[in-house]
Amino acid sequence: HHKLAEVDIYEKLPVPFGLVRFGVAPDHPEVKSYGAEDNRILGIPGENLSGVYTARTLVGWYNGLPENRDLEPDLSSETAVVLGQGNVALDVARILLSPLDLLRKTDITENSLAALARSKVKRVCLIGRRGPLQVAFTIKEMREMINLAGTRPLLDPADFMGLGDALKDAPRPRKRLTELMVKTALEKPNEKEAGRWAAATREWGLTFFRSPLEILPAADGKRAGGIRMAVTRLEGSGETAKAVPTGEVQELESGLILSSIGYRSLPIDPSVPFDPKQGIVPNILGRVEGAPGLYCSGWVKRGPTGVIITTMNDSFGTAQSILEDLQSGTLALSDSKGGFGSLRSVLHSRGIWPTTFTDWEKIDAVEVAKGKAVGKPREKVVDPQEMLQLIGH
Ligand SMILES: Cc1cc2nc3c(=O)[nH]c(=O)nc-3n(C[C@H](O)[C@H](O)[C@H](O)COP(=O)(O)OP(=O)(O)OC[C@H]3O[C@@H](n4cnc5c(N)ncnc54)[C@H](O)[C@@H]3O)c2cc1C
Ligand SMILES: NC(=O)c1ccc[n+]([C@@H]2O[C@H](COP(=O)([O-])OP(=O)(O)OC[C@H]3O[C@@H](n4cnc5c(N)ncnc54)[C@H](OP(=O)(O)O)[C@@H]3O)[C@@H](O)[C@H]2O)c1
Repeated sequence: HHKLAEVDIYEKLPVPFGLVRFGVAPDHPEVKSYGAEDNRILGIPGENLSGVYTARTLVGWYNGLPENRDLEPDLSSETAVVLGQGNVALDVARILLSPLDLLRKTDITENSLAALARSKVKRVCLIGRRGPLQVAFTIKEMREMINLAGTRPLLDPADFMGLGDALKDAPRPRKRLTELMVKTALEKPNEKEAGRWAAATREWGLTFFRSPLEILPAADGKRAGGIRMAVTRLEGSGETAKAVPTGEVQELESGLILSSIGYRSLPIDPSVPFDPKQGIVPNILGRVEGAPGLYCSGWVKRGPTGVIITTMNDSFGTAQSILEDLQSGTLALSDSKGGFGSLRSVLHSRGIWPTTFTDWEKIDAVEVAKGKAVGKPREKVVDPQEMLQLIGH
């Protein structure tokens, strides 16, 4: 909507697209029609034991994020625990349980495919501190989990009885999602489904009203052996209900614990305002508070929730704010702001050669060609040095 505008996009990594390349699951290529740096921590004892990972590092590993490429997760435990009940938790559970033949056709890295082929994980327990009416995942992803080949759902019927009243005033997406879980937990499956579930060699389940207290060490004192959780109950109802401990405690054995309790943005520079509590750049409609001329968009604007379309709409909102400020004169334009041209001279004077979009296209072509050779949409280059070599830096 502004004919003279030129937009420069700066990216930390040599390849673009952020979480679309490094977050979105490899078996969800339909949302990668095109492309938060940290995670929330549980803050409980035992988080540093081996066999404990954040979903973010596991996701980064199977998606070829350079910093996680050498993760080599220990997948020798038959039971895996995923803490959190959002869509990332479902992504991780699905990748751990998916038949290899499904994953082989995706752009998952060869290295993680080989590790998943050796994996002993047969059961994934997704643990929520609140109840079935407060899960954060969405219906499409739950349906995909229920229908996942070679696996069966383990849902405790008691968790899903008598939810009708509470559902009456719930928004439609929540109602439909709950109905799907209720149907799966309480109704007799049809013949085909019953056969599939009976033949399944892997399984997954949802455990509610458990809040993580401590990751327990195995006998060697080094690896994770299980998790101690506070049994909780809800105070209040609906989306805003709070989990409070009942005083009861429960333990669950598992050598693979993945915390999937949300991502977290990081401050970019001391000169840019940042609210560490919310993990966002404080802003009004994308206008960074206390920094006229600076705007933000995406998870750093809103917090670490929302799908790609939410993020796109959000950036259209920020662009709208910029346009309004240009029109009203609040955003002062001056020729002295050189844009990328002047930045490039500074970088070159320091011996830094940024990769350009054309450079990325060369990396992209190599990845696609490598993938084609093994029947995948692409084989990602995971080593930044190799990326730079490919573009002649
Ligand atoms: C595991 C996972 C799976 C997901 N799956 C789906 C899905 O299936 N469908 C869907 O619709 N949505 C999905 N999402 C949500 C979607 O990925 C996000 O809504 C979206 O990517 C957020 O966009 P963003 O630009 O805010 O952040 P990001 O995508 O994280 O982009 C931020 C970019 O900034 C770069 N950067 C960071 N620091 C610096 C710096 N200092 N200097 C320069 N650049 C920097 C990063 O490298 C990155 O490229 C998923 C999210 C996750 C975490
Ligand atoms: N297929 C897709 O479309 C797709 C795939 C992946 C991600 N995404 C999107 O990306 C965004 C991020 O997903 P996400 O799964 O990382 O985050 P999320 O949706 O915010 O889910 C986080 C989960 O962790 C729980 N949690 C948070 N703090 C906790 C704690 N201290 N102890 C125990 N549990 C805790 C939350 O429970 P409470 O509710 O009790 O806080 C919730 O169940 C979401 O908007 C998601 O929809 C979409």
